[in-house]
Amino acid sequence: MQDAFGAPQSVLLLGGTSHIGRAVVRRLVARRARTVFLAGRPSTELDTAAAELRGLGATVTTVEFDALEPGSHEDVLGKVFAAGDIDLVLLAFGVLGDQARDEHEPRGAVEVAATNYTGAVSASLVCGAALARQGHGSLVVLSSVAGERSRRSNFIYGSSKAGLDAFALGLTEALRPAGVHVMVVRPGFVRTRMTAGLPPAPFATTPDAVAQAVEAGLRRRAELVWVPGVLRFVMSALRHLPRPVFRLLPG
Ligand SMILES: NC(=O)c1ccc[n+]([C@@H]2O[C@H](COP(=O)([O-])OP(=O)(O)OC[C@H]3O[C@@H](n4cnc5c(N)ncnc54)[C@H](OP(=O)(O)O)[C@@H]3O)[C@@H](O)[C@H]2O)c1
Repeated sequence: MQDAFGAPQSVLLLGGTSHIGRAVVRRLVARRARTVFLAGRPSTELDTAAAELRGLGATVTTVEFDALEPGSHEDVLGKVFAAGDIDLVLLAFGVLGDQARDEHEPRGAVEVAATNYTGAVSASLVCGAALARQGHGSLVVLSSVAGERSRRSNFIYGSSKAGLDAFALGLTEALRPAGVHVMVVRPGFVRTRMTAGLPPAPFATTPDAVAQAVEAGLRRRAELVWVPGVLRFVMSALRHLPRPVFRLLPG
């Protein structure tokens, strides 16, 4: 259960090696979270993430989870919830893909869509239903500003995030009567493994800044969080730019 200050004590991170996800969980462990499940594809990186959180005092269990295997989600994630209540599920898996390549190799594009959208739809529905049975808890979904308006340079990734974002906003309404809080997080460019080697976009930020925004959002039970916050206004303007003007912008 959450403590008297509403801080989660048990956390399930979907995408157990995600740089952003790990920053959020580190912050929550520093606040009081004690039980952590890291769900991801088995790797030394996943073991390292678990060891890091154990070093901070958390009890950590790794769980084999593949977004591209939605048929297994009910079973895999069901076992996590069977072990006890989960206060916070953080959906942090995703792939950027390689837009230039994937435009010509649709299988790559399908993998981006299947991971970021289909896999997330499946995992969110499974976790959402489990949280609803508990009657409490939060589901935090890492969307992206890339889903706000698709750009020439990354519309495959952007469209997968647009779909996920729309889905998660609807899920917010569907789960609210059951006492479940859904929070959609729209970061801009975050310096992580995913963006390594890419030139930083304007308003580039860090995993720790996203973690701070997630924690603050959880405290006030926000349903939509932009990181950094100024992107809310920037994207509101960009969304309404006429196409011929939008086309002239870099990226
Ligand atoms: N970085 C940014 O600029 C940025 C901006 C906005 C939103 N986001 C979103 O934030 C989330 C976290 O990104 P990040 O920056 O932390 O990137 P990251 O460090 O590369 O993390 C991506 C995570 O997704 C996992 N993943 C990929 N395919 C998977 C699959 N089939 N099954 C299970 N897990 C899978 C990876 O696991 P493996 O270790 O097994 O590969 C890794 O844990 C993503 O949804 C991303 O789209 C990122």
